[in-house]
Amino acid sequence: MLEFKVDQEKCVTCGECISDCPILVLKFDGAGFPVVAEGKESVCIRCQHCMAVCPTGALSILGKNPEDSLSLENLPDGDQMERLMKGRRSVRRYKKDPVAPATLDKLMDVITSAPTGKNTLSMTYTLVDDPAVMDKLREATYNAIFKAVEEDNLPPGMDMFQQFAELWRDKGVDVIFRSAPHFLIASTPADGPSPEADCLIGLSYFELLAQSMGLGTLWDGLAKWAISLIAPDLLLRIGIPEDHVVGYMMVFGKPAVKYHRTVQRQGSAVINRVSL
Ligand SMILES: Cc1cc2nc3c(=O)[nH]c(=O)nc-3n(C[C@H](O)[C@H](O)[C@H](O)COP(=O)(O)O)c2cc1C
Repeated sequence: MLEFKVDQEKCVTCGECISDCPILVLKFDGAGFPVVAEGKESVCIRCQHCMAVCPTGALSILGKNPEDSLSLENLPDGDQMERLMKGRRSVRRYKKDPVAPATLDKLMDVITSAPTGKNTLSMTYTLVDDPAVMDKLREATYNAIFKAVEEDNLPPGMDMFQQFAELWRDKGVDVIFRSAPHFLIASTPADGPSPEADCLIGLSYFELLAQSMGLGTLWDGLAKWAISLIAPDLLLRIGIPEDHVVGYMMVFGKPAVKYHRTVQRQGSAVINRVSL
């Protein structure tokens, strides 16, 4: 049920909702108000563009009240976004104390609004919010590496994990998780339209918001390799469904480092301007 409702007192019959619908679900009724066209309810991808684009807040769908949406006045401007994006750093030094639960809740709430292919919204974010659980996960990962080393079973190209595990055992240096108190894994069913992209977009949203809130984050390829390739049983143990693509993993927490300026990487990517 789409619960598509139009407040005819507020509707100015501009047709913006109809023009913006990506699947052409809406049409004008005889009186000039938008309605769901016959037989189209089932093809709606539930993107809520109709509600978002309505200039007078006349339209409700999926039981949502337009007044509960956030206003789009006073968005951060381009210069602010540039500083956030260029100032975002890979943080590898963390304080031990956890991020406040309300901050974690806000982050989780916002990343669920990241776009997904066909608006499938089928993401799972596996969050380690308790540093004690993070310690257990860290221990289990390093134990799995030691076991693989003992059994001469490290996957090809993963020899460096032996040194990482020894560093952890002998010096307490955690190269894999950078001693972060929190961990986030993005996964989604493998048979979706765009599983890899959906995961990376979700974590990118997470990272920028987290850093704007004063937190540190690190895309953690080493953790992804260690857990996915050396300790895959852990994925099931922490609740990631077997049919999921594990898009990426990220550690985060309160940073124990402060950066005072951006790095300067302009010009380091190829911009291939097309002229045909
Ligand atoms: C996909 C991805 C995986 C990464 N994996 C790791 C990792 O496992 N460990 C680590 O210390 N840094 C990791 N990094 C961080 C990169 O080394 C870092 O982004 C790069 O050096 C640039 O630094 P910056 O992020 O501060 O701009 C990763 C970054 C990306 C984008």
